[in-house]
Amino acid sequence: MTPAKSTEFKNPRAKYNFQGRTCSIAGVGSYVPAKILTNSDLEKMVETSDEWITTRTGIKERRIAAPDEFTSDMAAAAAQRAMANAGVTADQLDLIIVATITPDMPFPSTACLVQRKIGARKAAAFDLEAACSGFIYALEIAQQFIMSRTYDTVLVVGAEKLSSITDWKDRNTCVLFGDGAGAAVLRSRQNSHGLLTAVMGADGEKADLLFMPGGGSRCPATPESVNARMHYLRMEGKETFKNAVQAMQTAAEEALRRCEIDIARIKCIIPHQANRRIIDAVAERIGANQSQLFVNLHKYGNTSAASVAIALDEAVASGRVERGDLILLLVFGAGLTWGAAVIEW
Ligand SMILES: CC(C)(COP(=O)(O)OP(=O)(O)OC[C@H]1O[C@@H](n2cnc3c(N)ncnc32)[C@H](O)[C@@H]1OP(=O)(O)O)[C@@H](O)C(=O)NCCC(=O)NCCS
Repeated sequence: MTPAKSTEFKNPRAKYNFQGRTCSIAGVGSYVPAKILTNSDLEKMVETSDEWITTRTGIKERRIAAPDEFTSDMAAAAAQRAMANAGVTADQLDLIIVATITPDMPFPSTACLVQRKIGARKAAAFDLEAACSGFIYALEIAQQFIMSRTYDTVLVVGAEKLSSITDWKDRNTCVLFGDGAGAAVLRSRQNSHGLLTAVMGADGEKADLLFMPGGGSRCPATPESVNARMHYLRMEGKETFKNAVQAMQTAAEEALRRCEIDIARIKCIIPHQANRRIIDAVAERIGANQSQLFVNLHKYGNTSAASVAIALDEAVASGRVERGDLILLLVFGAGLTWGAAVIEW
């Protein structure tokens, strides 16, 4: 057992003389589809330019799933890699949570399809919908089960095939999104604080800023709904931008306050990879250095619930974080929803 590098900071779970078990990430993994769609490819599809997309968002390219590649396929591939890194087999999983807004179908849950694909026969399985914030919501739920000793091993996945709900005729949105999946296996680990805290927030008053009007009980699919392009996501870009900066700042400050940790103690900040300007604005407001930020949005664009999960896997794989380092995850998405998590790696 590797001892924790530092025990100076306060574990908010220990606030009330907490003696119970904590929850750590035993392994992470990710998967992105092979097909790359570049900004210059998009120039041929809508009236846009590499220069506009790069300066306004920081995105250079994104991955697009194959026609016969679905959210559950990407989720299962990421899950297999996370399990291998964690040294966990499918039959050890007690629970699978898949965070997604692009399930294979309305039901059954994508989590059940993942359970079948990876052969995790004894695991319970459900989907969670908190849009781009889903991965932190899922981590927090998983942690509750582990702390309460209900389950020992939980698989959390963020996976999206956003290309299936992107309006490829709308230049305001189609340049922003991509497909992919990231996964984490959660277990208790002795001598580690693990997930120190997870802040979760929501504001349903602002549900209309980012939404998909069709496909639910309010507007089931009809020829008219298809013609009116109601099965694609819609967004108020400017307002979403402002709310994203504000919400991630507030969530980050609350998470750090709860842990009594200064931002300088965070080794790696992994923000939702939606827009480079949002990330830089949040970093400035919370007093973070550029060197603390992990950014991969130039390669993948915004992959919603998969975003911070893929980035976490890449940060770990590239050696940006080591055992005992502190990580700050920040998310924001439709709902509106937001969240922040402090993790001792
Ligand atoms: C979408 C976003 C990049 C637009 O950037 P912006 O600086 O706000 O740009 P604006 O909305 O002011 O648009 C400026 C102009 O560029 C145009 N434009 C929009 N998309 C364009 C594109 N892909 N290529 C070229 N021009 C484009 C607009 O039509 C507008 O033109 P107009 O002034 O003639 O009307 C930005 O608002 C954003 O990132 N918002 C948050 C999105 C997000 O992260 N959503 C997910 C959250 S989980």
